[in-house]
Amino acid sequence: MSLEGLRESCLGCLACDLSQRRRNVVFGEGNPNSPLVLVGEGPGDEEDKTGRPFVGRSGQMLDRALADIGLDRTNVYICNTVKCRAADWSSGKPQNRPPTPLEVETCRQWLVPQLATIKPMLILCIGAPSAKNLIQKNFKITVERGKLFPSEYARASMATLHPSYILRQQNISGDGGYSLLVADIKKAWDTAVALREKYGSG
Ligand code: URA
Ligand code: SF4
Repeated sequence: MSLEGLRESCLGCLACDLSQRRRNVVFGEGNPNSPLVLVGEGPGDEEDKTGRPFVGRSGQMLDRALADIGLDRTNVYICNTVKCRAADWSSGKPQNRPPTPLEVETCRQWLVPQLATIKPMLILCIGAPSAKNLIQKNFKITVERGKLFPSEYARASMATLHPSYILRQQNISGDGGYSLLVADIKKAWDTAVALREKYGSG
């Protein structure tokens, strides 16, 4: 199926409970011919509202990190582990929460064919849930970020810190890991470009 066909089907997905309260499915966007795909955790409030990935505070940090190395969103493809917002509604007001293992597993029916259609050279997982889903179950983000791993879905994979984690660390001190995010994206991009040169675009 084409990426657009896959998106059309995904927009109607009712396969897990996250479908119940979502306003929009956030399928993904960007350049499907890019050698680099970024895979985040899942939509937050702004993403749920707009149907676009990484458009809230985390997205602003991601845009800045891309710009720091001379890239923008048109150079890469961006999507998420789950396509609908995961939130806890028990207080009446939705609080973002990580997707459950069942939600992650169920949403692989979209993520796996999405990656199979794009066939990126390198997948950069943004944050631990994405790395646990796509690299290995016991992935340790603080020690294994920035390292290259083999992948079923690309020539290589890597993970970096999630901007929401960096934002929390910045409340405690300093750059909170922002410089690591920039360095990891640069390594991911340079590696993806080198792999494309080596293997061609297929
Ligand atoms: N955080 C994510 O992991 N993905 C988004 O799309 C937005 C914030
Ligand atoms: Fe379907 Fe994924 Fe949304 Fe669940 S999160 S309803 S599996 S698109």
